[in-house]
Amino acid sequence: MKGLLEIKDLKTYFYLDKQAVKAVDGVSFHINRNETLAIVGESGSGKSVTALSIMRLIETPGKIISGEIHFNNVNIAKLSSKQMTMLRGNRISMIYQDPMQSLNPAISVGEQIREALIIHKAVPRKESKKRALELMSLVSIPEAQHRYKDIQSKFSGGMRQRIMTAMAIACNPDLLIADEPTTALDVTIQSEIMDLLKSLKQQLSMSMLLITHDLGIVAENADRVIIMYCGKIMEEANVRDLFERPKHPYTIGLMKCIPRIQDNVDVLYSIPGYIPNASQYSEACRFHERCEKAMDICRQKEPELIEIEEGHKVRCWLYCNK
Ligand SMILES: Nc1ncnc2c1ncn2[C@@H]1O[C@H](COP(=O)(O)OP(=O)(O)OP(=O)(O)O)[C@@H](O)[C@H]1O
Ligand code: SF4
Ligand SMILES: [Mg+2]
Repeated sequence: MKGLLEIKDLKTYFYLDKQAVKAVDGVSFHINRNETLAIVGESGSGKSVTALSIMRLIETPGKIISGEIHFNNVNIAKLSSKQMTMLRGNRISMIYQDPMQSLNPAISVGEQIREALIIHKAVPRKESKKRALELMSLVSIPEAQHRYKDIQSKFSGGMRQRIMTAMAIACNPDLLIADEPTTALDVTIQSEIMDLLKSLKQQLSMSMLLITHDLGIVAENADRVIIMYCGKIMEEANVRDLFERPKHPYTIGLMKCIPRIQDNVDVLYSIPGYIPNASQYSEACRFHERCEKAMDICRQKEPELIEIEEGHKVRCWLYCNK
């Protein structure tokens, strides 16, 4: 297998009213050790469902219908739920887009961090409190000793994100998945959290899957990038190639949406049109209705994802033989 995590042809669908919502529709990628891979795309493109599939947290009416998820040389798509419980939060951790998914509103934050240590690492109770306090300090929660017994509602959004981070890294995972870790925060707090994640990743030698729709965050934090649209990878490249030589019209559109100070415009650019309904994809390129470059073939047949330069892949008829 390639790297720490390798995903091959992952398909995760939701079955609603007998229709299949193709949230993730044949996705393949890998993450190397100590690397940060970013997944970028508009709302509904399948970023969170990809992450939740890796965590094996897809619930009915959703289902992983096919694909392989190799992690540390084991296809975790085939593990039993019991085996998966041992791995989740331990070797692979996630900071969830929805904080309610990770923080219990009734239990003190210190005890929640401690619980993760007791369950996965069998740390003795006495020692676990000391370690939980160390983790709170590591994520820069001031006066950790004093705040250990507070419940999450007593913390600001940024501090809550630090607590969730402490829980996620408690067992020193090989892979940390961070799903929009800064979206709900003020801009200044956003960069503090990203700096924290970057420094923890280095200190703990983790790999990171960073999910975001913010290309600014990608530029500063990722090694490689995947651009996702309608459950498919549209472009994959290392961060420098992507920003210097974006190929896919969707990527170019996303880049145009980044506000630049020198532009001095009142109205920001946005890609025209809307993401199509995930239960009604046709055989065409999924971006064709919004693409300025669309040709006849684009409306008839979807292109394959092809490697046009080493490590740079694109799914677009402009770059492959028709
Ligand atoms: N529990 C669910 N039931 C039905 N459809 C779902 C469910 N969860 C996700 N989907 C659908 O799967 C698709 C991908 O959703 P996903 O949450 O992965 O998007 P996303 O890229 O993370 O978007 P965002 O940026 O808004 O977080 C969407 O069409 C969404 O409506
Ligand atoms: S395949 Fe065609 S419609 Fe799709 S992105 Fe490329 S040019 Fe645009
Ligand atoms: Mg999401």
